[in-house]
Amino acid sequence: MKKATDYIKQKTSIKPTIGVVLGSGLGIFVDSIQSATHIPYNEIPDFRKTKVKGHKGEFVIGEIEDKKIICANGRFHYYEGYPFDKVAIIIDIFKHLGCELVIMTNASGCVVEQWEIGDLMLINGHMDYSFIKSNDNPPIIKDSRYDSSLLSQVKDIGSKINIPLREGVYTWTTGPTYETPSEIKDIQELGGHAVGMSGLPEIERVHELNMKLIGLCCLTNYGSGMQTHSLTHKEVVEKAEQYQKQFLIMLESIIKNLSLN
Ligand code: HPA
Repeated sequence: MKKATDYIKQKTSIKPTIGVVLGSGLGIFVDSIQSATHIPYNEIPDFRKTKVKGHKGEFVIGEIEDKKIICANGRFHYYEGYPFDKVAIIIDIFKHLGCELVIMTNASGCVVEQWEIGDLMLINGHMDYSFIKSNDNPPIIKDSRYDSSLLSQVKDIGSKINIPLREGVYTWTTGPTYETPSEIKDIQELGGHAVGMSGLPEIERVHELNMKLIGLCCLTNYGSGMQTHSLTHKEVVEKAEQYQKQFLIMLESIIKNLSLN
């Protein structure tokens, strides 16, 4: 970890305070970063490579107006074989570089029939549907990591720029396969709103490291069984790319306008 952070630090004089994790198909955000330094993961000593299509595998450090940020364009997943408590190494890097806030983004499935594909959802709770720690029905966790003043600031920012934000419970599945129609029905009954394969290890790590969290999901598809055709990773990446404009505006606006005090 020290080798990796030392390497990143000597590549730029910018000291980031906000860390952004970009989900599948959302990587174009790095083009709006000024004074950008790109650091490919495979250049960093003691760091990992990423293999998932639609993920580039680099850190980009720079500025959005007066805010100093680091973006992780490409993340690691539990299904790639990392132990649960080591998946979210990107969050550790953010912490070591001095970030106080993590904006975690992802492409997720939508399990609410009334919502539209392309909607953005702010995470206000989560459900661990991995059954790694317990095989009971998972409870919905809504604790201090979903800070109500931070959530309402983000919602206000969304309404000022006319981007409606859904709010709901992110459900984590281990992947890499998508859910079955029966699992989606179950997730609906248990109170989930979005479903994805990346978020929970990162959410847990942000909490353990005492950082603030904003989780934003780009809803790229309906859950399995809610649409007539079966779902593929290609479709998820294409939809994320198709709907990313709103997403990029939202993300930039949050970074510019959020006050952390
Ligand atoms: N399920 C799980 N992960 C996902 C989905 C989904 O429907 N869409 C994008 N990531």
